[in-house]
Amino acid sequence: MSNMPENVRIVEVSPRDGLQNEKQIIPVETKLALINGLRDAGVKDIEVTGFVSPKWVPQLADSSEVCAGLTADDSVRYSALTPNMKGFEKALAAGIKEVAVFTAASESFNQKNINCSIAESFERFAPVMAAAQQHGIKVRGYVSCVLGCPYEGDIDPQVVADVAKKLIDMGCYEVSLGDTIGIGTPQAAADMFKMCAELVPVEQLALHFHDTRGQALANILACLPLGAKVIDASVAGLGGCPYAKGATGNVSTENVVYMLHGMGIETGIDMDRLVQVGRDISEALGRPPNSQVNNAWG
Ligand code: HMG
Ligand code: MG
Repeated sequence: MSNMPENVRIVEVSPRDGLQNEKQIIPVETKLALINGLRDAGVKDIEVTGFVSPKWVPQLADSSEVCAGLTADDSVRYSALTPNMKGFEKALAAGIKEVAVFTAASESFNQKNINCSIAESFERFAPVMAAAQQHGIKVRGYVSCVLGCPYEGDIDPQVVADVAKKLIDMGCYEVSLGDTIGIGTPQAAADMFKMCAELVPVEQLALHFHDTRGQALANILACLPLGAKVIDASVAGLGGCPYAKGATGNVSTENVVYMLHGMGIETGIDMDRLVQVGRDISEALGRPPNSQVNNAWG
């Protein structure tokens, strides 16, 4: 295979995307054990929580406590989801140095997820971007529903690319392209990624694929030769979006890292430790890891 990257940056989203869908409230200590385990396994980017409305996502009501318990480590970037100024201010007070704003390429999904239109979401981000710049906080952007929407069906890749460019133009250092409902297949993923790469430098694009239909690894593989070098993943395949019916977990970090290492692509992650983290959080949740590699690992 040609044009493969030498290394890939993994952004671990399990403490936020992974846990936000869990009905039973998970203790702060369990969340911190997950985050510390990921850090010990060599993960350098960890989305630790979200400063969203606790009425909308009760699981993340403890975001300030989670941040207060983080182990200081300059080599690790801890980030948090912030939908608006209120979330940003809380994240800042909690000592977070990187935040993520999120919108979608689908109007109806945005209404269900953050109660506003795509245009209104950008209006909400404007003060967040300004405050972030003032405080030296890095901002990542998410676009949801890049390969299909649970309410609208097909999504025009041009709309995805336009929304991604707008996030970059507003000051996001990177845009993560979310197949929220895991509906895409490799050709569609590659076409969408190429379209985005025409408007946004490829090194500023990340892949955020949910594995609902078992396509996530194939979709990632289709984008790697196109220049994709940042992959969001979730240990034990945890995850899902409460506002996208049927959206199951993100692609499991174990599956992604196994595939990349098998192809000689470096991630800096220790597979044995990662597998143990996946097993520990799965045990805490009372079910086996949603990751073939984890289940097959010795
Ligand atoms: P709203 O109801 O339209 O907002 O919600 P509002 O400004 O009218 O405020 C309503 C209440 O929420 C008020 O409280 C606010 O103070 C409070 P009340 O007066 O009723 O007591 N509030 C907040 N509280 C804490 N933190 C905040 C905050 N903001 C307002 N930041 C809002 C708008 C965006 C807040 C709401 O819709 C929300 O929190 N949505 C979050 C949805 C969410 O977390 N979805 C999952 C994450 S996105 C995802 O999973 C996709 C992704 O993984 C990529 C992919 O897979 O595609 C990123
Ligand atoms: Mg997601």
